[in-house]
Amino acid sequence: MSIFRDSLFAGRVALITGGATGIGRGIAEALARHGADVALLSRKAENLAAASAEIESATGRRCLALPADIRNPEAVDAAVIRTIAELGRLDILVNNAAGNFPCASEDLSPNGFGAVVDIDAKGTWHATRSAFRAWMKEHGGRILNISATLHHGGTPGQVHVAAAKAAVDAMTRTLAVEWGPLGVQVNAIAPGPIGDTEGARRLFPGPVADRLRAQVPIRRLGAIEDIASLALFVLSQAGSNLNGAILVSDGGLSLSGRFSVEPEGGPGV
Ligand code: COA
Repeated sequence: MSIFRDSLFAGRVALITGGATGIGRGIAEALARHGADVALLSRKAENLAAASAEIESATGRRCLALPADIRNPEAVDAAVIRTIAELGRLDILVNNAAGNFPCASEDLSPNGFGAVVDIDAKGTWHATRSAFRAWMKEHGGRILNISATLHHGGTPGQVHVAAAKAAVDAMTRTLAVEWGPLGVQVNAIAPGPIGDTEGARRLFPGPVADRLRAQVPIRRLGAIEDIASLALFVLSQAGSNLNGAILVSDGGLSLSGRFSVEPEGGPGV
């Protein structure tokens, strides 16, 4: 049972990148449950078809499936144009698509570093630029970037992701100032470890998750629902004075000391 009004996003259209699974899927479904029509962009067509059908049947809202690689700016432009053509407008963009794998920095190839920067940082830019030019410059809008906390300090094995997410934070602040006067507000959520995601399963297998949970002041990992609810808050009227904000949702973990993806007792990951 949601604490938000069912019709909170009625009449609005949201595009969610990486929206077929995990946090993106959670945000998409939450927006649709509160009245928005949504479009999901994802590279994996099979995940996309299933997610879109499930969201439509669970919420009764339209859910457009947009197969595209966020790294391809022309494909992203086409997906944005299609969203506007089929759903009529584009009020909200959620930049959630991301790639991650743990890798000791000395072993990380240029292509490995580049793959994550291309998805997280350049992909965020591709969707942001397209949405602004095709709709938001004229009509205003809200952009929500899904960042992270691992670059707030130093997280071994995550140099590529830290660099990419730092760029996402920089875009959040820069565009908030540059586009605020045009009615486009840009904010970010920085989730800590979210237990029920593919990323967590990769980064925090079994015992690592247990150690991590013990380090979180509230003694639990985050859940997709935590981030989806916060997204509804930020994107609703309740967040209307937020611009350039990067909201940490991690149960206080980043204040508590070390956040590590290293296995116990050894350097690297
Ligand atoms: N350790 C070290 N290097 C790795 C790696 C790993 N676990 N996984 C990928 N790489 C490197 C590859 O070796 C390659 O570099 P190389 O050409 O020098 O060998 C480079 O990254 C690109 O790999 P590739 O598999 O071709 O990329 P991709 O575009 O198919 O995949 C990734 C993108 C790399 C981000 C992949 O991890 C992915 O698709 N992940 C799924 C989404 C995801 O990460 N979800 C969690 C979000 S938090």
